[in-house]
Amino acid sequence: MKTKVKHKQKRNKQLFVKEGLTLPLTYQPDNDRVDWRKEAIINQDMFLEVLAKIEEINESIRLRLETKKIIDIIQNPRRDNIGILNISSNGGTAKIKKNILLEDLTQIADAQTLERAKYYINRLKKGLTEVKNSKINDFNLNRWKEYDDILTGSLWILDKRDKSGAHNAGYWGNFIPQIPNQFLRRYTKQGEWVLDAFLGSGTTLIESKRLGRNGIGVELVPEVVELANKNIANEKNIFNVRIEVINGDSAELNFRKELETRGIRSIQFLIMHPPYWNIIKFSNNNKDLSNAKTIEEFLNLFGKIVDSTYDILDKDRYFAVVIGDKYSKGEWIPLGFHTMNEVLKRGYMLKSIIVKNFEETKGKMNQKELWRYRALVGGFYIFKHEYIFLFKKVKK
Ligand SMILES: C[S@@+](CC[C@H](N)C(=O)[O-])C[C@H]1O[C@@H](n2cnc3c(N)ncnc32)[C@H](O)[C@@H]1O
Repeated sequence: MKTKVKHKQKRNKQLFVKEGLTLPLTYQPDNDRVDWRKEAIINQDMFLEVLAKIEEINESIRLRLETKKIIDIIQNPRRDNIGILNISSNGGTAKIKKNILLEDLTQIADAQTLERAKYYINRLKKGLTEVKNSKINDFNLNRWKEYDDILTGSLWILDKRDKSGAHNAGYWGNFIPQIPNQFLRRYTKQGEWVLDAFLGSGTTLIESKRLGRNGIGVELVPEVVELANKNIANEKNIFNVRIEVINGDSAELNFRKELETRGIRSIQFLIMHPPYWNIIKFSNNNKDLSNAKTIEEFLNLFGKIVDSTYDILDKDRYFAVVIGDKYSKGEWIPLGFHTMNEVLKRGYMLKSIIVKNFEETKGKMNQKELWRYRALVGGFYIFKHEYIFLFKKVKK
């Protein structure tokens, strides 16, 4: 008997995920798994029924008491004598972040007036029954509070690199996976196409595989392509997406043709993490942007890539460039802003300049004191940040 109930519960959860009644808020390789400390699976019909009954109450104290009973059940599921958490009975289920649900219920309980309480009840009901979609992502804006790990400020302090799944810090000069993770969830829908013109070790495509986005990556160096393929293959393809890795020079590639031969109409998100000119030399290949002889040459090659990818990005879609500045002979070279200008010249609209903390390399970490001394003597500041420029394609 016990096993039967378990089966049924599992089936319900699967059904719920398949029908898209919930949205994977953060990376969840196994969408069927529930973190019971953070999430609640509620019996939607039962919960709505209970909310409707509370809404009918016309006495503040009773409304508060009844709401507090629900709060108690969410906090102590064993005390569920109503069946709100009984997901094995008939009816749909909904996965909700516990802290958000408790916040909403507390707001109802603590409302100053009956009118206000009923307004909050209705808002909660709406969040559970209606989906307010956006054109460029899979968020349900009626449940916007649940996307509490989506960054909306322009200062990103990301200390710990995500090393889960296939991600690893093995490639010198890679970016942290949280960068593509934030953007893919915010600026693409499942099943759409993402392009990274400087693929490196494959971070963007690992992330697109996890999040159910198709991905194309271009990388110049064959050994790095091999590494990227290996890394990407280590990530499970749970959404059955397509991943295409091209070994080539992004400055010379005919992107439109590459897409056409693969039967891809266009892309919905573009990301570039070019070499920060010559700070790290990635290869001996003279087509490598890190081997550009002058900053003008670097910007010219970068501009060519912005030009040749412009057409394939859909209108009203986004483009992110991740880049840092550099020092040369004691002078701060604002490589980031020069690069940003190359994109602006080509008609993109600037949406945000994000300043992200810079992970110290192991070498620098061991020489912290020395660098501090050098900075004091040389009258400069040590790099602690890099930029993410976010653009939108507004013209056809
Ligand atoms: C900053 S790294 C990108 C790292 C990547 N985001 C990751 O997480 O691994 C820049 C990459 O661009 C590649 N590259 C340089 N010039 C290129 C070009 N002309 N076409 C394509 N790739 C190029 C380099 O080999 C290097 O792997």
